[in-house]
Amino acid sequence: MSSLSVPRAGSGPRPSAPASVAPRIVAVPEAFNTEDLYVDLTGVVGAPLHLKCEGFNFAGSIKLKAAAEMVDAAIRDGHLTEDSVLVESSSGNLGVALSMIAASRRLRFLCITDPRCNLSTRRLMEALGSRVHVVTEPVDDGGFLGARIQYVHRLCASDRRYVWLNQYANPGNWRAHYRTTAPAIARHFPDVDVLFVGAGTTGTLMGCARYFRDRDRHVRVVAVDAVGSVTFGGPPGRRMIPGLGTSVRPALLDESYVDEVVRVEECDTVRTCHRMARHGFLFGGSTGTVVSGAGRWLAEHDADRLTAVAIAPDLGERYLDTLYQSNWVEALYGPEALAVSTDDARWADTAGTPTPDAVGQPTTGALAP
Ligand SMILES: Cc1ncc(COP(=O)(O)O)c(C=O)c1O
Repeated sequence: MSSLSVPRAGSGPRPSAPASVAPRIVAVPEAFNTEDLYVDLTGVVGAPLHLKCEGFNFAGSIKLKAAAEMVDAAIRDGHLTEDSVLVESSSGNLGVALSMIAASRRLRFLCITDPRCNLSTRRLMEALGSRVHVVTEPVDDGGFLGARIQYVHRLCASDRRYVWLNQYANPGNWRAHYRTTAPAIARHFPDVDVLFVGAGTTGTLMGCARYFRDRDRHVRVVAVDAVGSVTFGGPPGRRMIPGLGTSVRPALLDESYVDEVVRVEECDTVRTCHRMARHGFLFGGSTGTVVSGAGRWLAEHDADRLTAVAIAPDLGERYLDTLYQSNWVEALYGPEALAVSTDDARWADTAGTPTPDAVGQPTTGALAP
């Protein structure tokens, strides 16, 4: 008899058309965002964990909120006018979000990035009408991020029309999450005990941590960072996955709001992303880092008694040529990063089934099934 079953209603009914929900109609792309979607990752991490999905908006990431908040503040205080050229250093997602907002408000935007920015992300920014400059050499004291920031300083000194929002120090960055992300979590999980947040600029982390602290809510805020990041004082090291970690400590960070820090090796990030993908959820690299760190933390605590939430900043499609490409993964992290647990190895007992190669269709370097 087959062991296949249809998911229980509570674990995910199939979508059906609701009878009378009014359509959402937007005139600007930033007007739409999904705040109420969580994935129950119990089956993936082996402990109860709800993952708040922030990738469902037109920019495809959580950075839409920070971008909108910072641009609106700059327009309100007269800093940003129609003559301005917005400039920002970004590893990708903020650049895409700003490109989208700049297009919808008829502003010019120049993104300064580095070679770790995915090609598809660069193309997205250009498709939205932005210009992209890639710095090619890291600086000794500050790596690629330092080089990007030096370039932005030079630009701003060369022409007064350049306006730098500076996501690393702009209070609008954390305020966006204080106003939206954290209250949404509090609304959906009023008894949340522990919140796992990845740390890049630390905007998401500081906004959420401040929100819960200001309300005297005893939520343990666990920052998740990449090994090789200097944000919480670790030694600098190679990091190839964009989103989390820094080579210059972000000015927004106030560690007194952070209860604990968990550091994750990129190899574990990759394995966690692949594991989630094998359960049907394709997330970006920083989500793999956060879920890996959260899983480790929960394994060391009384997880069954805790309500745990983690934040997934984006989805996985932009990482198909890196994280989800076996050659890229193997070259950087070795074959062990591609190991699949027996639980996830769906094709292991299909010996004798013709492979695409055998029927004349060459396979690509995508992850082996
Ligand atoms: C994919 C991804 N994850 C995580 C982050 C980190 O968010 P924050 O800058 O709020 O710390 C970013 C920031 O750009 C990102 O692009």
